[in-house]
Amino acid sequence: MDTQTVLRYSRRSLWLRALLVPLTAVIAACGGLGRRAEQQQAAVAQETEKVQPTAAPAPAAQSGEQKQGTTASAATTELPATPACEDDDDPTPPQTAGPFYTPNTPLRTSLLEPGLGGTRLLLSGQVLSTKCTPIAGALLDFWHTDDAGDYDNEGYTFRGHQFADAAGRFTLETIVPGIYPGRTRHIHVRVQAPNQPILTTQLYFPGESGNQGDGIFDPVLLLELADAANGKEAQFTFVLDVP
Ligand SMILES: [Fe+2]
Repeated sequence: MDTQTVLRYSRRSLWLRALLVPLTAVIAACGGLGRRAEQQQAAVAQETEKVQPTAAPAPAAQSGEQKQGTTASAATTELPATPACEDDDDPTPPQTAGPFYTPNTPLRTSLLEPGLGGTRLLLSGQVLSTKCTPIAGALLDFWHTDDAGDYDNEGYTFRGHQFADAAGRFTLETIVPGIYPGRTRHIHVRVQAPNQPILTTQLYFPGESGNQGDGIFDPVLLLELADAANGKEAQFTFVLDVP
């Protein structure tokens, strides 16, 4: 091989390398993006998995008074049902926890921390039984994404638990969460009456374009949302199917 030929081959190999290096980088980047999309798809599948509600308890045997009432109502006008809990007496339906729950969250009623962006949200409400009795000391464990729609899976940002007061009331100071890809805007929560089973569910925001397309969105779980002086205010009443 003469000198000219060697130079020609060397130049060609340099050209090939110059082409191959960026091509490899692009393929690697696409692979990374593909993996992230797959992880998000898997997370959404876990979050939107349907949870079967627990079976409704068998109706209690009718008392003598109820039987009498039934007989009487057949002959006379039926009395309207006694209003209870302002229609909040149906148990709050369960929903999946999704893949991003972290146990042992800090005890706190404010998830706000310096440097965290987002619209402030003051979420308050009450925990009741199906008999409309306030559940004092009920545990509430909240978690949601940051303003950009990302969960903190290494620390406890936007994660925290608290206990309802003697009237079953709670208040949480946080932000309006961002939107996790593939889901509509939501807040995760676990609620538990002392020594009773845990209710795991999610809360939703009214007026969100993503609500109707979300696999498990349930209008029963919509927050009552309003504008506030420094952000938003929301209310929700949890009803637990406990004795
Ligand atoms: Fe989620």
